Amino acid sequence: MRAIVYDRYGAPENLELRLMPAPVPNANEVLVRVRAASLNPKDSLIRKGKFKAASGGTFPKLLGYDLAGVVEAVGANVTHFKVGDNVFGMKNGFTGSTVAELAVANEDELATKPASLSFEEAAALPLTSLTALQALRDLGKVTTGSRVLIHGASGGVGVMAVQIAKALGATVTTTSSEKNLDFVRGLGADETLDYTKSTGLERGREWACVFDVFGNQRFSKASPALAKHGVYVTTVPSPRNVFDDLRTRWLPFKKARLVVVKSNRADLEVLSKLVAAGSLRAVIDRVVPLAETAAGQGHIETKRARGKVVISISV
Ligand SMILES: NC(=O)c1ccc[n+]([C@@H]2O[C@H](COP(=O)([O-])OP(=O)(O)OC[C@H]3O[C@@H](n4cnc5c(N)ncnc54)[C@H](OP(=O)(O)O)[C@@H]3O)[C@@H](O)[C@H]2O)c1
Repeated sequence: MRAIVYDRYGAPENLELRLMPAPVPNANEVLVRVRAASLNPKDSLIRKGKFKAASGGTFPKLLGYDLAGVVEAVGANVTHFKVGDNVFGMKNGFTGSTVAELAVANEDELATKPASLSFEEAAALPLTSLTALQALRDLGKVTTGSRVLIHGASGGVGVMAVQIAKALGATVTTTSSEKNLDFVRGLGADETLDYTKSTGLERGREWACVFDVFGNQRFSKASPALAKHGVYVTTVPSPRNVFDDLRTRWLPFKKARLVVVKSNRADLEVLSKLVAAGSLRAVIDRVVPLAETAAGQGHIETKRARGKVVISISV
């Protein structure tokens, strides 16, 4: 099969399209003929060697966590899928492998692809939407009437967070650059702030949840603008954010939480229901062919992507 691989940690130029042996599913895994994958900052961070302790020192490495495609084979214990099913999902862990013609995923990391979505649209959803769902619903306790601030609302996670917060019944304020104000409003934001003029954390504001998607704010700065039981949720696993999460986790008031996205079928099916209800749509910055994966990663690394970069894999 054709796959994007790299032989050492470093720049996107290390990525190469190569013929690799097809993966073999274990008893709990599904082999998927990948029709589309999508890229995330996680792929670039791992390629740069930022998570070496988890990603290890063996090469060549493949990349990619999001996928949509068609079931090619199933392991002996797989009960939920059969050959020919259309699926989408996200692999857990630090050994990505979905930017390839074939990929294996655990049965619980996949769900039936929403029929209304193309493979490209379905591949654009999992990692970022699951992050937004788990950050807002599980950590931020966002519910009907919650006042939510989403900082950095125009990127991969942000565009999903706006839509999911609205679907949870929240009133949503966003920050983005000025050029993206109308774009984010089009996703459903009630109030849009240009972060060069206002971060939304000024005195007089009172948020039930501040979701720091971009990750350049901090709990100590957000705390004065949180409601009594408000929660600050960040995406960045820095030592300070981990410490703030641990020290405030059991406090009755004002908590800091770090989201660590976890793929599971129940949540993928929540996303499918939101799609079916018309509450969630894929937001794609660009679709690139497999051979142009390095350029796709380069675009993400500008930190200016509007939504997702999707890799289309022709059959
Ligand atoms: N912990 C987890 O489980 C988890 C899961 C998913 C993602 N993450 C992390 O979450 C972060 C966001 O991921 P993503 O996929 O949304 O990234 P992304 O798509 O690369 O984000 C791009 C967006 O960042 C915005 N941005 C750039 N500079 C900014 C600034 N100074 N302030 C606010 N926004 C700014 C840009 O908006 P403008 O052009 O409008 O400025 C752009 O739309 C990454 O660090 C990623 O690694 C963590």
